[in-house]
Amino acid sequence: LSFCQWHCRHRRHLGAVSKLSVREALASVEGSPNSIKLQGWVRSVRSQKDILFLHVNDGSSLESLQVVAEPNLKTSALTFGSSVEVIGKLVKSLHKKQNVELNASDIKVIGGCDSYDFPFKLKERHPPEYVRQYPHLRCRTNTFSSLLRVRSKATAAIQDFFQSNGYIHIHTPIITSNDCEGAGELFQVQATNWDHGQSDKSGFFNVPAYLTVSGQLHLEVMSGGFTRVYSFGPTFRAENSQSRRHLAEFYMVEAEISFTDSLDDIMQVIENLFKSTTTALLSQCPEEINFFSKYVSVGQKDRLEQFLKKKFVTMTYTEAIEVLKDAREIFHYKPEWGCDLQTEHERYLVKHCGNVPLFVINYPYDLKPFYARDNEDGPQHTAAAVDLLVPGIGELFGGSLREERFDVLLSRLERLGLTDTYQWYLDIRKFGSVPHGGFGMGFERYLQCILGIDNIKDVSPFPRFPYSCLL
Ligand code: 4AD
Repeated sequence: LSFCQWHCRHRRHLGAVSKLSVREALASVEGSPNSIKLQGWVRSVRSQKDILFLHVNDGSSLESLQVVAEPNLKTSALTFGSSVEVIGKLVKSLHKKQNVELNASDIKVIGGCDSYDFPFKLKERHPPEYVRQYPHLRCRTNTFSSLLRVRSKATAAIQDFFQSNGYIHIHTPIITSNDCEGAGELFQVQATNWDHGQSDKSGFFNVPAYLTVSGQLHLEVMSGGFTRVYSFGPTFRAENSQSRRHLAEFYMVEAEISFTDSLDDIMQVIENLFKSTTTALLSQCPEEINFFSKYVSVGQKDRLEQFLKKKFVTMTYTEAIEVLKDAREIFHYKPEWGCDLQTEHERYLVKHCGNVPLFVINYPYDLKPFYARDNEDGPQHTAAAVDLLVPGIGELFGGSLREERFDVLLSRLERLGLTDTYQWYLDIRKFGSVPHGGFGMGFERYLQCILGIDNIKDVSPFPRFPYSCLL
């Protein structure tokens, strides 16, 4: 950018001085004739006899901006971790790795930082288990701030995918009276100030209420009036798991597509969503993707590029069980038709298929929730359900065709004793029912998969899991 173009774009004047972010400053090729103001946190400070070097980062970029100053601008409060406001001119840098640096005329320390007590040390690479202990400070590390920038871009890329493909965004409720998945992993909601004496035992809502495990049933309501809908919100599961891929609170991306009786259509949307979002991230976050590929999961970028080139592989659940039974590997859980695939099975299957994303379709009918469509096959009775398994993680997406036939749905709900609870769900099969299906993707697992991050607790800004609700 020429200085004029750059100046016109960033007209946030503070008196005569424009305020710039580190990202904006680094994007300037030539420097600036006018003074600018930069605010951020000191990432390094080094003073020599006649020059002072600082690196300042404000979270907008992986790179910090180098600030050079007269040594007399150094005060004892100017330490690693302190917050600063610097005024100066952007000048062309002599350093090969950067275009510009900030020649400071004034440095003000806004908030001091006791480097001794500060948990992160200059030039040290801290292991994730250590960083995780400081959820209130970890946004100061390169790894976590990079993750949060990618997370933010991924959110926008997912929204873009749905918006540009004609989907309507629905805000599904967080408080609900249903257990969509029927797994009983619910957090119950109670009002702390509710006087139970004046109502029945059911409390505020007069019925038991829970934090949602999935927005699917509410999306299905909407798919009675819109052909394509999606939601992207928090979901909650009281799973007693400390595993590296489970959280008690996670974000789920869900979509529901009407007028389809083919699982292939649902799988195509899943593949398109994965590829489109990942392509966007590779082009919009090159610094961060390279950083993770170099320091966190070596070669991750190449693996992602491979995923994008190939069509995802598909196998049926029945074929998957045969592969597992034929495997030389000794599994902790013996693979049997009718049993859930365990993480160890999912990992083996993905490896067996060449370490690319793998669709497993047509699961045993009795394994799937009441809403999954009956394939009416047999004797190995299956439902039209699909999971997408990805390397290193296992299940990333879960979806199915939904049972749109009133009679079939009614008899299943009767068998499960759920007819009263789901009268409204049956009702939508009475008034213009259409064949439809959809899926849900765990957003944190997607980020793990893209960045090669081993533990889900390291991709959530504030992870919640058993015995831990810090902050
Ligand atoms: O397979 P699940 O349970 O599917 C549903 O909830 C459907 N109602 C979605 C739909 O069809 N609209 O969950 C979907 C995805 C999983 O594939 C997984 O990626 C993620 O949500 N997930 C979790 N992520 C983190 N922590 C947990 N405890 C998770 N449980 C599921």
